This record gives sequence, structure tokens and C-alpha cells, in this order.
Amino acid sequence: MKQLVAEVEAILDQALPSAKVMPSVLHESMRYSTLGGGKRLRALLAMAACAAVGGEIRSTSSLVAAIEMVHAYSLIHDDLPCMDDDDLRRGKPTNHIVYGEAIAVLAGDALLTEAFAELAKMPDKYGISYETTVRVILELAHGAGSQGMVGGQVMDISSQDQELDADTLRYIHEHKTGALFKAALRGGALLGGADEEQLRQITRYAENFGLAFQITDDILDETGKVEQLGKAVQTDQRLGKQTYPRLYGLEKSQQMAKRCVEECLEALEGFSPEAGLLRELATFIIQRDH
Ligand code: IPE
Ligand code: IPE
Ligand code: MG
Ligand code: MG
Ligand code: MG
Repeated sequence: MKQLVAEVEAILDQALPSAKVMPSVLHESMRYSTLGGGKRLRALLAMAACAAVGGEIRSTSSLVAAIEMVHAYSLIHDDLPCMDDDDLRRGKPTNHIVYGEAIAVLAGDALLTEAFAELAKMPDKYGISYETTVRVILELAHGAGSQGMVGGQVMDISSQDQELDADTLRYIHEHKTGALFKAALRGGALLGGADEEQLRQITRYAENFGLAFQITDDILDETGKVEQLGKAVQTDQRLGKQTYPRLYGLEKSQQMAKRCVEECLEALEGFSPEAGLLRELATFIIQRDH
């Protein structure tokens, strides 16, 4: 896994314009929030899904760059004063603290846009067919868009301080977090040449992974340590967010996340040993402390 994370870092370093390129401050800000941090889970999942269906990990390089760029943009915007108003991310001051709000907004805009340019290079750079390229672009667009991550963020923000509601809560988690995981996994599987049944099971894995991941994020917001998480804790309580521990309590939330991970593993039952990394990642997410 360590070696793959290093590869992700190198891919991103290549994909992002140098800070020497004009406008310098924009590129510096994009690089500040994308490079040198994060668990790289979405990238690892794209690679792991590709491998699980017998594909070559190298063919996911553009998706790896694109998904981490979209994720980095979502974090920059999530931390803005008009959203969660956080000062710390990945153990460093948040983008707007360093570069100001205007550049932070624009760095997010540019990362989102350039992510799609990166995907459009797949046929030339990696010999991916045009058909698969368009399918992967659509996966990321759906995952990031108004009925994906952005839709979830809207519901997250607009249901602050509202009465807790199980359906809304599930919608928020499936969209603000689950949708990008799904795009990473389905995109990786498509690049690996998945058949319809494999894609169906990867989707089942993705939905359960996303939920387990965000339930754990909520739990860590209550029980985690700033030094380990690299971001502020008890933010959700301060903002009156809808979270699993608030609605179900810590213990039941943990059980629910665990059940999701079991279902992730069930979804992989028909897969070969090549799905090993996917299996490992599923068990990692609920045991993590960061
Ligand atoms: C944080 O995601 C944002 C959520 C969707 C909860 P990660 O916990 O994957 O963040 P990094 O990339 O490791 O910093
Ligand atoms: C963030 O959810 C989801 C996205 C960035 C799309 P959170 O607001 O819970 O993430 P953290 O806890 O700030 O990382
Ligand atoms: Mg948020
Ligand atoms: Mg936040
Ligand atoms: Mg959180």
C-alpha cells in the first residue's frame, strides 16, 4: 500500500502545473492542498478495483489523479468559512487560511476542471478506448455533481440544526462521501475491463464502503485526536450536523459500520485473490484512527 501511495503522489505531482507556471499563486494553492497528505483512499480504491477485475493498475493513472483532485477541491471548499469553517486540514492550515478565500475558491474550481482534462487525456496517454474514457468521465461527473457529492454537501449544510432524520442522514452520507468513492471504484473497475456482474458487485462494495467510511468519520469527529486526525474535532457538534453517533449513539454506529464492511466482503466473494487490496481497504476503514 505504501508503494501505491508513493505512486499516487508522483502521478499528482506530474498532473498538476508547477508553481512556476502563471498564475503562480493559483498553482501553488492547488499543489498545497493536493500534494503531500491524505490517506489517498479514493486513488487506492480505483487501483484496487482495477486489479480486482484483472486489469493493469497503470491504466488507472488519470483516474487516480482526477479523483484525488476532485477530492482535494471538495475539502478546500468544505473548509471555507461559509461551509464548515475549519482552520486545520491534513495537519496544516486550511487553504483559505494560507491563500485567502478568493484563491481557495478558485483553486477548487481549477482542480475540479483540470480533473476532467486529465481524464480526457486517457486515450492518448494510456491507450484507453474512447468508449471507456467517456464512461469513466460520466462516472466522475455523476459522482461529483448535483446528484452526487455536491448534492450531499447541500443537504449537509441545509440540515444543520434541524431535527435528526434517518433518511436525510443516509442521503447526506451516501452523497457527500459515498458518491466519490463509487466513482473511484466503478471507474477503476471499468478501466480494468469489468463485466456487468463484477460492476454490480463493485457498486455494492462501494455503497457499503462509503457509508462505513463516513460513519467512522463522524465517530472520529467525536472521539478522535486532533494530532492523529490532522483536522479539528467536535466540529459536527459545533455546527449541529446530522451524524450517525448523534442519531444512533456511538456503539450502534460502530456496529452499523461493521455490518457495512461485512457486506463489502460479501460483495467480493466471487472475486479472485486479486481483490486482496479491496478486502484490506474495507477492513482498514473502520479500524483507522485518522
Ligand atoms: C475526508 O476524507 C472528507 C470526507 C469525505 C469525510 P478523507 O478522510 O479521505 O481525507 P484525506 O484525503 O485522508 O485527508
Ligand atoms: C466532507 O464531510 C465531505 C466532503 C468534503 C465532500 P465532512 O465535513 O464531515 O468532512 P471533514 O470531517 O471536514 O473531513
Ligand atoms: Mg462538511
Ligand atoms: Mg468538514
Ligand atoms: Mg467529518
